[in-house]
Amino acid sequence: MKALADIVGPEHVLTDPDLKASYETDWTGRFTGSAACVVRPGTTDEVAAVVRACASEGWRITVQGGNTGLVGGGVPVGGEVLLSLTRLTTLGDVDPSSSQVTAGAGVTLAALQAVAREAGFDFGVDLAARDSATVGGLVATNAGGIRVVRYGSMRQQVVGLTAVLADGSVVSRMAGLEKDGTGYDLLGLLAGSEGTLAVITEARLRLVPRYRARAVALLAMSSTTAAVDVLPVLRASLPSLAAAELFYAPGLALVRKHGGLPAPFPEEHAAYLLVECADLVDPTASLVAAVESAEGLVDARIADDASGQRALWAYRETHTESISAEGVPVKLDVSVPVTSLPALVDQLEATVAGVCPGARTIVFGHVNEGNLHVNVLDTGSAAEEVSDAVLRLVASLSGSISSEHGVGRAKVPWLALSRSENEIEAMRAIKTALDPAGLLNPGVLFPLA
Ligand code: MLT
Ligand code: ZN
Repeated sequence: MKALADIVGPEHVLTDPDLKASYETDWTGRFTGSAACVVRPGTTDEVAAVVRACASEGWRITVQGGNTGLVGGGVPVGGEVLLSLTRLTTLGDVDPSSSQVTAGAGVTLAALQAVAREAGFDFGVDLAARDSATVGGLVATNAGGIRVVRYGSMRQQVVGLTAVLADGSVVSRMAGLEKDGTGYDLLGLLAGSEGTLAVITEARLRLVPRYRARAVALLAMSSTTAAVDVLPVLRASLPSLAAAELFYAPGLALVRKHGGLPAPFPEEHAAYLLVECADLVDPTASLVAAVESAEGLVDARIADDASGQRALWAYRETHTESISAEGVPVKLDVSVPVTSLPALVDQLEATVAGVCPGARTIVFGHVNEGNLHVNVLDTGSAAEEVSDAVLRLVASLSGSISSEHGVGRAKVPWLALSRSENEIEAMRAIKTALDPAGLLNPGVLFPLA
């Protein structure tokens, strides 16, 4: 460990179990592993030196950002050097001529959004963990969130990266070129590679216009099918559409219980769709016009002021913490072709009950991408069986076993449900080429050697 202390300073190498503890368990409390030490470099050069030192000793590395991941990708299996990037907080000025900004891997999403907004721009990715989730982790997991319907996932925001490869060499493309036809798309490859190919230390990110005029509607729908069917109507008539989020009565009951929120409607409904529009001019009238004749619309609430909008968003955004307040859930994050979303929702309860009769299933998600967050509480010793049954159901509907949270450690046994043998072999070949000794994030994406 002395070699690491010489690089980052002894105060940034943590070996005391109490000091390491918060890095060794994930946000949900489901994944935990002991690190040989936690090392906290402050620059790309320090990251490179740490990786070189680990490579020469054969020490394996777990890379961690804000530790908000939900698939155990940022916690050690046991014995690794935990490389925390939270000190890489350099945040450049917004460049108005390119609408881009450079952010260190440890910059939080909220800090990035604040700097963008101050300069009259915004950032295209947003999610509930914005105060803790960091740029490095967002890129490494190709995070999605609530704005994908408008701006795409994290990969679509990246125009440059600096990253440290497994041998400690640095690759950097930070000119922010919007067009670059020179060979393999390394930026696109590293985005979503979950720290298995390189350690991302900074990113050049695309910004989007800031739309201050917002309208939020909470729609009570007669069924999931009605919620899915309204979406093409909204997309076609509302260029300002910025979010379309789905949830159900069991999740609503939990957010009300833990957040003390009032009932949004006098009666319970089959499905709830939260829609946001953002524009230069007030989009309320066009949002109302688009939804009022929607088939299957049973009730609606519209908010055109900030506090009313926050109140409606709370029903959706506090799902994660409210579910966790009930216990440690099995968290599955799946996507299916959007036309299969009603079939998935219909079959979920029985699928879970088939392997774990007492379990409670709470689902919510991002309807445009057919992305459902399936949270199962009270699974006892049947967590694996529940995951297996649900992920097989998803695969039978041509879906993905991980939509936006990544594979991490949690979904490794089921990768072959979403990827063909040839695809997995191609991914392995890339891993072997860039990290032949398997130093980076062991147990993530592929089984432990
Ligand atoms: C969300 O959409 O709120 C996140 O993906 C978090 C979660 O799935 O719990
Ligand atoms: Zn999500």
